[in-house]
Amino acid sequence: MLTVALSKGRLLEPTVDFLRRAGIEVPEDILSSRRLLAPDSTGSYKFLLVKPTDLPTYVEYGVAAAGICGRDVLLEVTPDLHQPLDLGFGRCTLVLAGKGGGRKENHNLLSTTRVATKYPRITERFFRSRGLPAEVIYLSGSVELAPNLGLAETIMDLVETGRTLRENGLVVLEEVAESTARVVVNRASFHIQQAEVQEFLRRLRKVLE
Ligand code: PRP
Repeated sequence: MLTVALSKGRLLEPTVDFLRRAGIEVPEDILSSRRLLAPDSTGSYKFLLVKPTDLPTYVEYGVAAAGICGRDVLLEVTPDLHQPLDLGFGRCTLVLAGKGGGRKENHNLLSTTRVATKYPRITERFFRSRGLPAEVIYLSGSVELAPNLGLAETIMDLVETGRTLRENGLVVLEEVAESTARVVVNRASFHIQQAEVQEFLRRLRKVLE
């Protein structure tokens, strides 16, 4: 049996859809129930439902042999995992955004700024690589509120449709990284459970063909 961690939140529905297209028997009620551990009916897979930012930890420690999570999370936590497959769905962009204005005003926003974000490490790396000072304020969600409330001048956050930025009066100042759903595999499991891992990857690759 292969234990696979799935990301709760925006990726769960497209992930379940992708697994089903790959012919993997995901339990019927996985999207509606509150069970966090869901074995399939054939005894081939066991699914764990975990917070996206925790997923790499579950896989790195071998609690799950494999998992599916966004590249944005992998850039933030930089885990030691095998990353064999880009599944292509869940496409979004990690951006720096603010209230915007003219070109000069946007430049000023970048050069001295307090940044609210769920991605403190990516944000620190971004500003360090530019040699720009920034105060990073960690929030676990609804970061789009921060500029309007005066908590920060900018935010580093994911944009999928752009609706949340628009409806909160924010504009993209700079695109920082692209993200899609990735498969991650525990390094030891890749060898120890080779047959099961390869079968799992083979099924997923077939959907991509
Ligand atoms: C994500 C992200 C943005 C939003 C982007 O939030 O942090 O807020 O989706 O999507 P859009 O471009 O289609 O508007 P999520 O739903 O994960 O909630 P949270 O970050 O506020 O917790």
